[in-house]
Amino acid sequence: MTGSGLALITGATAGIGAAFARDRARAGQDLILVARDAARLDAVCAELSTTFGVRAQPLPADLTVPADVAKVAAVIREQPLDLLVNNAGRSLNKSFLKSDVDDEESLLDLNVLSVMKLTHAALPGMVGRGRGAIVNVSSVSGFAATMPGSTYPATKAWVTNFSESTGLLVRPKGVRVMALCPGFTRTEFHDRAGIAAAQMPDWVWLKADAVVRQGMRDLAKGKLVSVPSARYKVAVAGLKLMPRSVLHRVLSRGARRMGRTVGDAE
Ligand SMILES: NC(=O)c1ccc[n+]([C@@H]2O[C@H](COP(=O)([O-])OP(=O)(O)OC[C@H]3O[C@@H](n4cnc5c(N)ncnc54)[C@H](OP(=O)(O)O)[C@@H]3O)[C@@H](O)[C@H]2O)c1
Repeated sequence: MTGSGLALITGATAGIGAAFARDRARAGQDLILVARDAARLDAVCAELSTTFGVRAQPLPADLTVPADVAKVAAVIREQPLDLLVNNAGRSLNKSFLKSDVDDEESLLDLNVLSVMKLTHAALPGMVGRGRGAIVNVSSVSGFAATMPGSTYPATKAWVTNFSESTGLLVRPKGVRVMALCPGFTRTEFHDRAGIAAAQMPDWVWLKADAVVRQGMRDLAKGKLVSVPSARYKVAVAGLKLMPRSVLHRVLSRGARRMGRTVGDAE
């Protein structure tokens, strides 16, 4: 997808969402950008408008708050959106035995419910116009219980399955829904979640701009699921094909080595 039109992107002030905003502004698309930090959002909108000559409108919202999600959904229903990117998401990086149930609920509010509600708001208009696309930013981690004890991969398994399912539903009507499933990508995500990113080898890291470029190419091809980079395509094939018992041993050992959730739970 290139050229003009209107895109709404959540979590657009950092990481993958900011890369989407830049990519779409470069393509001449006007923007509505969502995040919680209003001052940062204003600065990103001003910079994109000045650099690329597009209209970039800030829409501050906390997508864990139902009233804020309803506000964004209302904007989506009113506007002839060409692209919705449900990108805002987070990880708890905590053992389910140690996490606070309110934090678990808030994780589902952001990673799952906001994606469902904003997709629900966008699709009728897109189907009525016979065009439009939704990219739901999921994760390679959702292809298995990749962080034993953590509920984050389960939220992303939902996003991928939901995107495939709704994508199949609306494809005959000229509308696309795609799950974009990156592997480790250098953003603010790991610091926010308290994940020890420094322990990871260099080769695991993707760049947010490359993730977005590959995602937009796959969207144009009509893919329902996009996994950027050859190395993560191989990793996903491994997650799908490896016998479960072997996979569980490998993942649990890896999590312990990373000081992640399995060790946490013991
Ligand atoms: N980085 C990775 O390795 C990786 C890998 C696979 C998948 N992903 C997925 O990619 C997506 C983007 O992650 P990222 O790595 O780019 O993260 P990031 O650098 O931490 O950026 C997160 C963005 O979301 C916004 N945000 C966070 N909580 C929000 C809330 N409650 N309501 C509205 N906006 C909120 C943040 O702005 P405010 O704080 O101002 O709200 C920021 O703009 C997520 O869905 C993540 O699960 C990331």
